[in-house]
Amino acid sequence: MYQQQLLSKIAERTARIGVIGLGYVGLPLALGWARAGFRVTGLDVDERRVDLCRQGLSWISDVPSDELAELVQGGYLTATTDMAALTGLDAVSICVPTPLNKTKDPDITAVLSAVEAISTYLQRGQLIVLESTTYPGTTDELILPRLSQTGLSVGGDFFLAFSPERTDPGNVRFGLRNTPKVVAGITPACLELVAALYRTIVDTVIPVSSTRVAELVKLLENMFRAVNIGMVNELAVIADLLDVNVWEVISAAATKPFGFMPFYPGPGLGGHCIPVDPHYLAWKLRTLNYKTRFIEVASEINGQMPRYVVERITAAMNEAGKCLNGSRILIVGVTYKRDVADLRESPALDIIELLHLRKARIAYADPYIPLLKLAETTLEAVPLDEEQLRNADCVVIVTDHRVFDYAAITATASLIVDTRNATAGMVGSHIGRL
Ligand SMILES: NC(=O)c1ccc[n+]([C@@H]2O[C@H](COP(=O)([O-])OP(=O)(O)OC[C@H]3O[C@@H](n4cnc5c(N)ncnc54)[C@H](O)[C@@H]3O)[C@@H](O)[C@H]2O)c1
Repeated sequence: MYQQQLLSKIAERTARIGVIGLGYVGLPLALGWARAGFRVTGLDVDERRVDLCRQGLSWISDVPSDELAELVQGGYLTATTDMAALTGLDAVSICVPTPLNKTKDPDITAVLSAVEAISTYLQRGQLIVLESTTYPGTTDELILPRLSQTGLSVGGDFFLAFSPERTDPGNVRFGLRNTPKVVAGITPACLELVAALYRTIVDTVIPVSSTRVAELVKLLENMFRAVNIGMVNELAVIADLLDVNVWEVISAAATKPFGFMPFYPGPGLGGHCIPVDPHYLAWKLRTLNYKTRFIEVASEINGQMPRYVVERITAAMNEAGKCLNGSRILIVGVTYKRDVADLRESPALDIIELLHLRKARIAYADPYIPLLKLAETTLEAVPLDEEQLRNADCVVIVTDHRVFDYAAITATASLIVDTRNATAGMVGSHIGRL
């Protein structure tokens, strides 16, 4: 009965939807449903974000403020810190962070606290969907027992599902609508409902047989990237020892029309997903007495890359007759990824820390990050102009934002270490590439 009611509400766009966690994942999702004609409530513990949302001001670069404001003014999107707003919602999506703690074990306290709030207000006919990336088993062995304690039964009274998020911040080609979305339910009724809900905002929905499968799909996707990036990062070290240009090797290998997919080396992993999520799987497997070797090796190699970059800077400066102590190093780009304003886990932070330890004087240029808070100091961004480039003993390209003028950097700087091949095709003995 409840299943049919909710299916009708979804079809008629009268279902009331809640999104817990208005971050990189939750805000675009909330906007997607609001745009599709649903009334959406965003719930977040961060009062500042809730206030911004109410004012129609976006804090996520992929979400335009004018669109947010229009949906808020039209009454399609509201935001609150009050979890009592869960009452009366027909579907709730959980998009809270799933970081690691200091020992690299999963920290799922935000998921637990969201589930706690949901169980307080759980009502018949509600669909709960977990979107946060987590270890296989979270939905059926952690969330389901907690929600079942309310006395309501899954598949009949309430519905529980998992659908991994595939947001790629800064990607202008693939967004919510045209990125296929994997969905899974605890029961067939849960699956039918979650598929129906996501079909309203996503062109292609991929149902799988269990929430554990869906949880492992997400981790496979991220492990695939972490391992392949680890492999090419090691290839960069190998190529340097062999005095071969790793970028040329990869681009020639990429001409093979089958059986090869190019990955590129870089200064290290960053962001909320690739450096973090594989550890969720590694942790889960440790509880089953199994060691996930690929994850460990990739993590070790990727984690060493900031140190390797600093070694390359030291060597390049040495070659130029300079030493790091007292030298002025200009870091170009500090976010973890091109064209996004996200510093989370950025390898630039480790590189700057290591350079500080070696007593270098650091300046950085990044239009997305006006102030950079470090452990002991705060740096202010400098403009990437002729004066800054001339004054630097070494310019290190860490993040290849599209707004930077790489030809000007190459023409003006006396020494460059380019970790992204942003200066491809430009010549000069003063340019060193990974
Ligand atoms: N950022 C990405 O590109 C991306 C891609 C795919 C999957 N994911 C996964 O999606 C999940 C969310 O990531 P994100 O990048 O959107 O995180 P985020 O930090 O950008 O946003 C999370 C939001 O949740 C709020 N929050 C924290 N605890 C809460 C609680 N108990 N109740 C309500 N709100 C709470 C925070 O204030 C924040 O606004 C994570 O599991 C992440 O691994 C992220």
